[in-house]
Amino acid sequence: MTMKKLYIETVGCQMNLLDSELVVASLRKEGYELTPSTADADTVLFNTCSVRQHAEDKIYSALGRLKNAKREMPDKVIGVMGCMAQKDQRLIFQRAPYVDLVVGPGQLHQVPELVRQARENPGEQRLEVSLGRKDGAVDSIKRSHESFDPLRDPSMRPTPFQAYVRIQIGCDKFCTYCIVPSVRGPEQSRPPSQIVAEARQLVSEGCKEITLLGQTVNSWRHTEDGRAWRFSDLLYALHEVDGLERLRFVTSYPKDMTDDVLEAIRDLPKCVKYLHVPAQHGSDEQLKLMKRGYTIAEYREMHDRAKRWMPDVAVTSDFIVGFSGETEEQFQMTMDLVRECRFKNSFIFKYSERPGTKSADRLPDDVPDEVKKRRNNELLALQNEISEEDNQRFLGQRVEVLVEGPSKKQPQREEGDPAVQLMGRTMCDRIVVFDGNPRQIGQTMPIAIYDANAHTMFGAVVTEHVTPEVVPLAVPTQA
Ligand code: SAH
Ligand code: SF4
Ligand code: F3S
Repeated sequence: MTMKKLYIETVGCQMNLLDSELVVASLRKEGYELTPSTADADTVLFNTCSVRQHAEDKIYSALGRLKNAKREMPDKVIGVMGCMAQKDQRLIFQRAPYVDLVVGPGQLHQVPELVRQARENPGEQRLEVSLGRKDGAVDSIKRSHESFDPLRDPSMRPTPFQAYVRIQIGCDKFCTYCIVPSVRGPEQSRPPSQIVAEARQLVSEGCKEITLLGQTVNSWRHTEDGRAWRFSDLLYALHEVDGLERLRFVTSYPKDMTDDVLEAIRDLPKCVKYLHVPAQHGSDEQLKLMKRGYTIAEYREMHDRAKRWMPDVAVTSDFIVGFSGETEEQFQMTMDLVRECRFKNSFIFKYSERPGTKSADRLPDDVPDEVKKRRNNELLALQNEISEEDNQRFLGQRVEVLVEGPSKKQPQREEGDPAVQLMGRTMCDRIVVFDGNPRQIGQTMPIAIYDANAHTMFGAVVTEHVTPEVVPLAVPTQA
């Protein structure tokens, strides 16, 4: 069989990374192999994100670049999947008439069939998306968004010892700026029996680290066979899986960081001591306009509680700058919060108005772009300073690193030097690079840290010298 070639480009969050992994796996079964260039691909797929305008622009320009390629190779199948497919639907065909497929995040299981149909019937465009949040009965809307979690094929994962496991789809929080609830649909939790079974299967195939995925992962709850499960119960159940070494989860919602969740993380050794709990802003007025559902006092209380119970826990956040009406004073309150909480790191975004959201309908996007940029840079500079100081606390210390693979930038080496620069993460999600041997990928290694900047710590493998015990042959007798 001649292999068909698939080019896939993914933007957006971990949900999209997982979706792409599953789509690639399903197409590999159909005889596809990956190619890094669109030029020789039979099928070109984009897995898209709508969270900010920039993410959409990137995909529309990539599509623009394919116009001529499609003219020259009309049987190249071009598909747009994911959140922008759900949001823009037919608009994608209008803007790029040579696109063959538009497939929402709830229809990804259909991709192999849709690609086959597109190949057999060139020129026929296909649109497969979920119902909008007001387009029918709740149950049918929910069903139309059900996600794509087929049984895994271990050889298809990018790294065999790490895996994402989706525990929740959609979101019901409706923060006023956010498009996710409308493109990913209502919040739905997967049953614990399915999650645990998937984890067991992954671990039996060599997986050591599982990352649970959900937009507000700690809000997960599910009643199964009469038992009401909370997120903490799920953590305890997964912790029992023999062979699992690390249990991570993203993203947490501040208000749902209840005592039982923190207790579970503290008490379960396999749980990474890392919480991504976006605060979004430092001012109560802005939080209210964003409809985040908590005050800064409540966020601070949650943060203090986490730090009190787990002094080594690493907390990270997301922030939006330049949201509707943000004054300089309010922006400075975000700066104050970052100074006070000293996050391990923060992801900072300039507010991007998303059509169809509450804030687009009701609140002016009135902070000028230069101001957004300046605030973004100011906050980033502060966060970098904190991150660097925070990482430097590790100088001279020994950390346990799960080795993920070669680091992105390999240093120049003398000829014949077999060392490779590897990267991995600590239990508190800090990135460590060190010289090692590819054999060490997938292992947990002791690393001594000798340097650190805001984003990376540099270290060396600790070689344990086992001093042979000197056993005296004859105990001298005391005279
Ligand atoms: N579910 C997660 C985050 C999902 S989106 C949570 O609730 O925290 C990831 C991040 O993108 C958000 O935390 C927010 O900081 C940012 N974001 C979402 N919508 C945005 C918008 N319209 N403009 C700018 N940033 C946005
Ligand atoms: Fe968006 Fe808010 Fe839901 Fe996060 S919690 S996905 S920011 S609506
Ligand atoms: Fe983007 Fe969709 Fe994730 S909008 S952030 S890819 S859920």
